[in-house]
Amino acid sequence: MKIAFFDTKPYDRPAFEREGAKAGITFKFFETKLTPDTAGLARGYDGVCVFVNDTVDRECIDRLVEGGCRMVALRCAGFNNVDTRYAFGKIHVFRVPAYSPYAVAEHAMAMLLTSIRRIHKAYIRTRDFNFSLNNMTGFDLHGKTVGVIGTGKIGRVFIDICRGFGMRVIAYDKYPAEGAGIDYVPLDTLFRESDIISLHCPLTEETYHMIGADTLDKLKTGVVIVNTSRGALIDAEALLTGIKQRKIGAACLDVYEEESDIFFEDFSGHIIEDDTLARLISMPNVIVTSHQAFLTEEALANIAETTVQNLLEFEATGGSPNELCYRCGKTDDCRRDRSKKCF
Ligand code: NAI
Repeated sequence: MKIAFFDTKPYDRPAFEREGAKAGITFKFFETKLTPDTAGLARGYDGVCVFVNDTVDRECIDRLVEGGCRMVALRCAGFNNVDTRYAFGKIHVFRVPAYSPYAVAEHAMAMLLTSIRRIHKAYIRTRDFNFSLNNMTGFDLHGKTVGVIGTGKIGRVFIDICRGFGMRVIAYDKYPAEGAGIDYVPLDTLFRESDIISLHCPLTEETYHMIGADTLDKLKTGVVIVNTSRGALIDAEALLTGIKQRKIGAACLDVYEEESDIFFEDFSGHIIEDDTLARLISMPNVIVTSHQAFLTEEALANIAETTVQNLLEFEATGGSPNELCYRCGKTDDCRRDRSKKCF
């Protein structure tokens, strides 16, 4: 089997080369992202392997299918960059539903602690032999209320970590996990009561800009917002307004609404065109990491292993438990539940 691998970074290759060699799959590594313009590179391949900022839209899907591709193997959990409705019946789409919830949840907590204990400031100060503690006062997490939005795999690990710190945890999920011992509250209550809000739900039409201009009034003054999920859950302009109004106390962002042309690339020495991102980064109480939460050795190994399993399983049986389509999760409609195949 031959797979065209897009948006390759040096850290992707070792695990995929290792797993590919074991399974008899040849990966051709392209540095470019998959877009309608680059889809031609996949002509003659059995499928493509893509990441979060590749664009699998209608035009791209048509070109992939024309070129003979039968599979889109996402090497990530989120799939908002794939037009799953249009792909249905044309090309099979798989994902890696979980590779290390610990990697992401631990990164969320790392960002939170860095922010509230000013570690990012201390690191720079002491390197310059500045040992002053002025403006470095933080606050205890113990006893604070954290509101977790999305209590799936990552959200739950994050909840456990927060409980370890002695925090009060409240949560909101569209589909609450009954019997999981989680204190679910309505979203507005979570906004009103949380000292810290951490986002762990997927990006959908419903969750788009769930933190936006009309949310600001509902938030507790000084709230810290952590987003390791998807950038567009937050309206970045509204976030900036909230920070300037001193309503939002700090923001820890591993994802950003307009990240696709910026994150994962080296722009040092360039002039950043995105004024909102530049302004956010310039704020003393904003920490940005470049969609890095997943990046651990364990996660990379799991991603490669599951992607290769998805491809092999599809080749052998015509289906895979990790296949997805626009009907997945809708219990009345989900064909895969019955036949193990989306189509
Ligand atoms: P999951 O599918 O296990 O959990 C998602 C939870 O969100 C579910 O409990 C679901 O019921 C809930 N949800 C769905 N719609 C909702 C809504 N409208 N409002 C509130 N909750 C809703 O997913 P998992 O593995 O926990 O991942 C969460 C998110 O983390 C992913 O969607 C992905 O975007 C992001 N992610 C980010 C990574 C990074 O490197 N920064 C790496 C991996 C995932």
